[in-house]
Amino acid sequence: MDSTATTATPFSTLIRTASHEQHTEAESSTFMSDMLGGRLGVEAYTRYTEQLWFVYRALEDGAGALREHPVAGPFVQPELMRTAELERDLAHLRGAGWREGLEPLPATAAYAGRVAECAREWPAGYVAHHYTRYLGDLSGGQIIRGTAEKTWGFERKGDGVRFYVFEQISNPAAFKREYRELLDAVDADDLEKQRIVDECKRAFALNTAVFRELGEVFPLSA
Ligand code: HEM
Repeated sequence: MDSTATTATPFSTLIRTASHEQHTEAESSTFMSDMLGGRLGVEAYTRYTEQLWFVYRALEDGAGALREHPVAGPFVQPELMRTAELERDLAHLRGAGWREGLEPLPATAAYAGRVAECAREWPAGYVAHHYTRYLGDLSGGQIIRGTAEKTWGFERKGDGVRFYVFEQISNPAAFKREYRELLDAVDADDLEKQRIVDECKRAFALNTAVFRELGEVFPLSA
């Protein structure tokens, strides 16, 4: 894409369009398809939720220090924070001692490591990770919640699926519109925006790698 097109295209459109292929790949991964197809047991969903905990710890532990940052700061919003919800879900799924022996898969450790590195050293790159997770959770995440409730019998919007419930966001469509406005207002030159887009593709690839490893742990026997 030449720099004229980059300047003319709103950044929210640029990042969505550029990551479209990676989105399709993540969405159609074997693990996701099997999970959303109701073909996996609750242990698979639990292992997946555990991986999310490591990723959101990295996203949210790093967030506080970025609150005043000119590029990343506006994205740090308390109503998005998921760590507490994941911990409630994990207590439901694994029991009170949920934290004991909890280890990330190698792909998850790599993903969380990259998020933490961006939070520390490259706040604009952190925005790419923020977008990839939170906007996804507000979108396709709702489909995952519905399937999880149906497949494993969690109470609607209750323990087990609280991660997908944004209590403080009453109008997700409006929130996503405002989020896109924040993206469009990112104060970075075209080269830096391109780097953020590349980091977003990397974020999707890091997610896909986690799905691949989960798929190896939970292959379908049929
Ligand atoms: C099977 C799983 C998934 C389904 C069914 C799904 C579905 C969707 C849908 C329907 C939208 C469009 C919503 C809208 O335009 O308002 C969307 C957007 C999005 N999804 Fe997913 N998704 C899945 C997995 C993922 C994964 C694994 C990620 C990344 C970790 C992700 C990240 C995103 C992002 C960032 C957006 C926002 C795109 C934008 O408007 O800029 N999704 N997803």
